Amino acid sequence: MSFNEIAVIGAGQMGSGIAHVCALAGYKVQLIDMTMDRAEAGIATITGNMNRQVTSGRISESEREAALDRIRPADTYDQINQADLVVEAATESEEVKRSIFTEICPLISDDAIICTNTSSISITRLASATDRPEKFMGLHFMNPVPVMELVELVRGIATSDETFEAVRTLAERLGKQWTSAEDFPAFIVNRILLPMINEAVYALYEGVGSVEGIDKAMRLGANHPMGPLQLADFIGLDTCLSIMQVLYDGLADSKYRPCPLLVKYVEAGWLGRKAGRGFYDYR
Ligand code: CAA
Repeated sequence: MSFNEIAVIGAGQMGSGIAHVCALAGYKVQLIDMTMDRAEAGIATITGNMNRQVTSGRISESEREAALDRIRPADTYDQINQADLVVEAATESEEVKRSIFTEICPLISDDAIICTNTSSISITRLASATDRPEKFMGLHFMNPVPVMELVELVRGIATSDETFEAVRTLAERLGKQWTSAEDFPAFIVNRILLPMINEAVYALYEGVGSVEGIDKAMRLGANHPMGPLQLADFIGLDTCLSIMQVLYDGLADSKYRPCPLLVKYVEAGWLGRKAGRGFYDYR
């Protein structure tokens, strides 16, 4: 099965990035969020990021225009029945994701496949909130989506081979490399990346180094493109905390205990770059 139109639910940093790469690859895209303002903000992000790609010569102006023309913002599911693939990229909350699936399943076409961009939650459990677990799987993009080469493909217990093949082919058409991960908490990338970030927060909490010192150590000492605290701000501290909680709950090992300082920052609303403040001040 090949796709023609893709509905992306959630116009935040991941959803807008997913809409960006799908539109550039030639797919029609609906970018759906709860309000038109949020959906339009997603389009503004995409436009800004495509402009960067034009400036650096990665795409032409006409490719940008054609891609932007293929994306339509929406604040309802009125046209979701036209999509043959739905990619859910809402907040990293099982409750939010389940309620979206419950709402869209009666509306979408019987043949439509649903993917979730969850970065940690069980695909099998999320699939149980749909009427089509065989047509459901994880398609996990990395941030920033237009730049990062990898997607993780994750099957639930009931995902069919046809669904996996259709989504794998899509990933390749989007120009992504893929790796297949089993349905374990946080899959591969975040199983490894988030405990490192959490450990960096512990190092800060215990006074091993300053924010700048810890980031510099990992940038220059381990050749990471961003320090772990800067990366945490970039991902969003709320997302980092929810992934650590999924690891802690799902694997029941104290090594995954979220650092109390991470919890405190999230409670303060210091969610990183998107909130203007995290480990760094962006105001
Ligand atoms: N859209 C389009 N292009 C973008 C972009 C975006 N959002 N962000 C950066 N770029 C482009 C720039 O235009 C530039 O392009 P050219 O090479 O063509 O000039 C290129 O990417 C590099 O960007 P910059 O020069 O601005 O900055 P940089 O060299 O510092 O790279 C970075 C920025 C790519 C973000 C780099 O710092 C990096 O790789 N950081 C680590 C990112 C990472 O680890 N992501 C994974 C997060 S984990 C995750 O996503 C999983 C999860 O579920 C939480």
